[in-house]
Amino acid sequence: MNLKVIGGALSFETSDFQRLNNYCESEGLFLTLEWINGQYWLHSDDPKERPIGIQIDQELERHDEFFKRSSIVKELLARAVGVKPGIRPKILDLTGGLLGDTLLFLSFGCEVITLERHPVIAFLIQSALNNAHHPAVNCLTFIPMDAESYLAQKNIPDVVFFDPMFEDANARALPKKEMRIFRSFVGQDQDALNVFRRARELNPKRLVVKRPRLSVELGEVPKIKFEGKATRYDVYFSG
Ligand SMILES: C[S@@+](CC[C@H](N)C(=O)[O-])C[C@H]1O[C@@H](n2cnc3c(N)ncnc32)[C@H](O)[C@@H]1O
Repeated sequence: MNLKVIGGALSFETSDFQRLNNYCESEGLFLTLEWINGQYWLHSDDPKERPIGIQIDQELERHDEFFKRSSIVKELLARAVGVKPGIRPKILDLTGGLLGDTLLFLSFGCEVITLERHPVIAFLIQSALNNAHHPAVNCLTFIPMDAESYLAQKNIPDVVFFDPMFEDANARALPKKEMRIFRSFVGQDQDALNVFRRARELNPKRLVVKRPRLSVELGEVPKIKFEGKATRYDVYFSG
């Protein structure tokens, strides 16, 4: 068995775990999932580090507290996706990951559709969602699916957000723990340019691509760039 499961209500025989184990075997991955506080967490490759998972309620409550004191519409990410006073666009987040951006969109008050193609990450997301009670979660639709397949359906909202793990030589920022571990088993998203082009073809009102601040653009020079300390949002408008 390449997948070890510690604790939890589900038996290892369930189809979810069998599917994940088959995936781990095919990819040569050895992973451990542990049930802690009502959801599954992924063990880090460094036993000294805490397991990886998403505390959805805590994170949303933290954002709620923060936005009591700080204006949502001044946030760089909010401006990039077109949040304005009285305007909360519906967003398609093509790359869910550990839901950092998705949870921010929910905190802004947006409705969100989030995709994730990696079976282990999708499992962590689904397990975290099953354990979440914050009302904002009602505005999220999670679909464990590849972005290109979803985009083939052609039915997309006004705003599409894309944050691939695609790096160039200029991207110097040291990865956070989660990113390091992600990279070790999710790898680089080598098809990022194809996904970008597919999304562009569908001509959403806004396509927002998140990039390390110093990296090159994905494909085209954007109409607007929103630059933070480490991150840049490249915004492409419909033509
Ligand atoms: C850089 S992480 C996203 C991080 C996320 N924005 C956050 O704040 O936590 C990229 C994630 O997108 C997923 N991903 C990459 N390309 C994808 C695609 N074409 N379709 C669906 N998911 C994709 C990867 O498996 C990975 O989990």
